[in-house]
Amino acid sequence: MSAAKANKTRTITGHKAVREALRDTQTYSSDLQGDADVRDYRQIPLEIDPPRHHLYRAALAPFFVKPTVERYSAEFYSNAESQISHFFQNPGQDVIADLALPIVMQNLGALYHRPHDVQEWISWGPDVWTAAGPTRDGAILHAYLDRVYAEAIEIIEAKKRDVWSDVAQIEIEGERITQTEFKGIAGVLLAGGRDTVIKLLTGMVWYFGSHPAELELLRSDRARIDSAVQEFLRFFTPLPEMARTIVAESNALNLPEDRYVGISFISGNFDATVFDNPLEISLERPRNPHLSFGFGPHTCLGNHLAEIEAKVFLNALLDSGYIWEVSEEEITFHAGEYSVVPDRFERIRLSQR
Ligand code: HEM
Repeated sequence: MSAAKANKTRTITGHKAVREALRDTQTYSSDLQGDADVRDYRQIPLEIDPPRHHLYRAALAPFFVKPTVERYSAEFYSNAESQISHFFQNPGQDVIADLALPIVMQNLGALYHRPHDVQEWISWGPDVWTAAGPTRDGAILHAYLDRVYAEAIEIIEAKKRDVWSDVAQIEIEGERITQTEFKGIAGVLLAGGRDTVIKLLTGMVWYFGSHPAELELLRSDRARIDSAVQEFLRFFTPLPEMARTIVAESNALNLPEDRYVGISFISGNFDATVFDNPLEISLERPRNPHLSFGFGPHTCLGNHLAEIEAKVFLNALLDSGYIWEVSEEEITFHAGEYSVVPDRFERIRLSQR
């Protein structure tokens, strides 16, 4: 995902203003090229405005509708169960790299019917842009996307199917998508549901490490899981901000330097006019209209997938019977008013209580 732009001139904040801006795609356009340091193509459907945006979105929606994703719940559960048991039986491992990352990659491998790619995806680490080292670089992801595009064309010619051949065959206004468009779509399908879900799962484990009574409460009353997951989504806001441009980049001759505006999902999630005691995690909030999946036409396409992965993971954790505490943590927190909210989990180690 292309998150906030470093050179933005202002940021829209507050639950109401953020929702209004996200609906107003004429003023606040997604027609922009993010991550220019690591890619030279658009992420699709993220960086396209309506009405064309809708055509791509409609083509991708069937992969992510709730009934489709729910068919994978049992497989997600078995992934979570075996990783949790391996994790707790091997003390000293890191929650991000050794628990959340493999589960999230195995889940995507199941949904996309690419189990043979899972080890390769895990080897990239939680963030694909830093897969090759500390400096951001797109080479590893691009090489993978070029390779699977070539494979997809062979699969289509052999009249077979998998997720990448289905994506490669998408037609927009009667024309099959190009290789560059394929990379833009497949890149988001791989990257969008990676660090965000990892952060959500890691955040839950981190929180319960210091709140064992809450863990026990959930264990005895699973009906609370749904609202707990919504609250974790609100509090951790895995994607805190995205950029918009006030001058659409396609077809514009002179692009002003100061065209970028930040849209702060996190400010909406901590808006005290909407959420009581927003800086506290309250697993039973009666109403939770969080903006963690955005709002409007670009609302996260993977929202059901992320929620189902989180619920299944939580159920598997509760079934495991373990209780833990955090023995070592390396976390970067947000600055300023959200300073109690983790921004990046670098390392979390646990010990059993
Ligand atoms: C907790 C996990 C997740 C969070 C917090 C999250 C957050 C978001 C947000 C805030 C947006 C809107 C961006 C904008 O308005 O500019 C978005 C869009 C998107 N997300 Fe997610 N996401 C998550 C998981 C996933 C998963 C699992 C997938 C799929 C594998 C996914 C795929 C996408 C796609 C394709 C879009 C673009 C939608 C469009 O432009 O129409 N996300 N996500």
